[in-house]
Amino acid sequence: MKLTLSVIKADIGSVGGHVTPSERLFQTVADHIRTAGQNLILDSYLSHTGDDIAILMTHTRGEGDEAIHKLAWDAFVAGTEAAKEQGLYGAGQDLLKTSFSGNVRGMGPAVAEMEIEERPAEPFLFFAADKTDPGAYNLPLYLAFVDPMNTPGLMLSPKISQGFRFVIMDVNHTEGDRVIELNAPEELYGIAALLRDPERFVVESVWSRATGEQAVAVATSRLHNIAGKYTGKDDPVMLVRAQMNFPATGEILAPYATCHFVAGGMRGSHQMPLMPVKLNEGISYFDGPPIVSCAGFCVQKGKLTEAVDNFAHPFWDTVRDTASRKSIEMRRQGFFGAAMLPMSELEYTGIVEKLTELEPRFKVRAGERALQVR
Ligand code: F6R
Ligand code: MG
Ligand code: MG
Repeated sequence: MKLTLSVIKADIGSVGGHVTPSERLFQTVADHIRTAGQNLILDSYLSHTGDDIAILMTHTRGEGDEAIHKLAWDAFVAGTEAAKEQGLYGAGQDLLKTSFSGNVRGMGPAVAEMEIEERPAEPFLFFAADKTDPGAYNLPLYLAFVDPMNTPGLMLSPKISQGFRFVIMDVNHTEGDRVIELNAPEELYGIAALLRDPERFVVESVWSRATGEQAVAVATSRLHNIAGKYTGKDDPVMLVRAQMNFPATGEILAPYATCHFVAGGMRGSHQMPLMPVKLNEGISYFDGPPIVSCAGFCVQKGKLTEAVDNFAHPFWDTVRDTASRKSIEMRRQGFFGAAMLPMSELEYTGIVEKLTELEPRFKVRAGERALQVR
């Protein structure tokens, strides 16, 4: 059967800063999906990662479906009302447009969707990250889908060893979707050359070359491209199918043990390690560290199993310690050098104003005076 997996997420307000949504806000969104989604969706799963609420839905209406997107949008609008009543911080933060117009893309919420031919056993993983942006998935996807050092399946399984096709988006291009398709393993160095720059080039999807099936869908929206100013980080969601013609679940999860540095953390303007966390975790140190959660499912005729919390296993406790240590190390150097993002990625305009103010005070030394000081 053809099935669509849609995950739509937004930050619509949180308790005590950009930390976690309130119980009431969460329940309001859940109630809306349950009642309004009755004849529309086959199943759903609601979770939060940091201050973002994600609605995972299964249905048969295809990608970008107006009714599905409206269901999520209206749930977020209802949640925003609850957030406002409770005085939550950043109520309605990611709802950047006032009225719904056909599709939530370009309106603030992040979307990852794929239409699949449901396999007899259909395991898939739903990732959600907070305090970072879509480029955070570049390294884990590279390792899982092209590197036999991480994924032995690339050597051992005939189907996987035919490689994967990467669709990579230039997220700085705001006039439309600017994408390139590259095949692994032949075009590995081209893929690497792009993915090393995660603020500009972001994996949008990955496809099996053996069967043509879609393996990965990443939400690639850039909020500041939509709003024209800082409204929060993009906090990406991602769907990844696992096993058989795709990497195994463990091969997809393994790269997160790296705790690689990603853009985000405090004021969306720093480089901080990505910490794998349990489902429905909040935010703490330095408005971070950036976190990623992973819920594993199987689905049959659109019905989801219960979620498996993939980063709850004791193995990840050590990894979390590593992420904490790396965070503290990086924070020791405050605003200097690699600790902060480059100018173009800073999410607040204050520093630009400061530099503009200082600009006229610069003097270029010339002639005699220049020689004297030498
Ligand atoms: C990160 C984030 C926070 C805020 C910070 C200041 O995504 O949202 O780090 O940037 O808490 O928030 P404002 O400027 O809203 O007081
Ligand atoms: Mg927020
Ligand atoms: Mg967030």
